[in-house]
Amino acid sequence: MPLKKGNVPKIESILLPTDFSESSKNAMGYAVYLAGINKAKIYVLHVIEHIFDVSGFYIPNLPVNELYKAMEETAQEEIEKFIPEKIKEEIEVENIIISGTPFLEIIRTAREKKIDLIVISTHGRTGLEHVLFGSVAEKVVRKAPCSVFVVKQVGREFVMP
Ligand SMILES: Nc1ncnc2c1ncn2[C@@H]1O[C@H](COP(=O)(O)OP(=O)(O)OP(=O)(O)O)[C@@H](O)[C@H]1O
Ligand SMILES: [Mg+2]
Repeated sequence: MPLKKGNVPKIESILLPTDFSESSKNAMGYAVYLAGINKAKIYVLHVIEHIFDVSGFYIPNLPVNELYKAMEETAQEEIEKFIPEKIKEEIEVENIIISGTPFLEIIRTAREKKIDLIVISTHGRTGLEHVLFGSVAEKVVRKAPCSVFVVKQVGREFVMP
């Protein structure tokens, strides 16, 4: 049955979470395309992971605040160049940096900004060889309040038994 005009899903805001990996750059292409045809706004979100989540243990005497500050500065630089300037002339883009647990902050932002669609890649920086789906992507698909467009990474296809 063809969609009636009033039934066409509205995509006015797209959330693009990124760990700045090649895979998430690949997802960015899809987000830009979808934003272009829908005249949607893109929210680029980077979550700075808590040191405890990254290392799994406590390192005494680590200047945590200074470390976070440096991480935030690096993230700011990375996020600003994540979407090319030329594209930003055509599409509205807002960058968000939050520290916390990636999947939780992605879900929280999707709720707060009333996001219509999340565009996320299956893999990120670590991209464990045997895993078909990164853990962040999987949790986002399970818990998102909206639809999720999952961008597959070439070479990660399921092999028929
Ligand atoms: N810190 C983060 N901030 C924002 N988005 C993230 C973050 N980490 C991952 N993502 C998003 O999730 C996608 C998949 O990454 P994920 O971490 O699930 O895969 P992975 O690194 O291969 O697996 P894992 O982290 O479980 O080893 C990334 O391409 C990115 O879009
Ligand atoms: Mg990861």
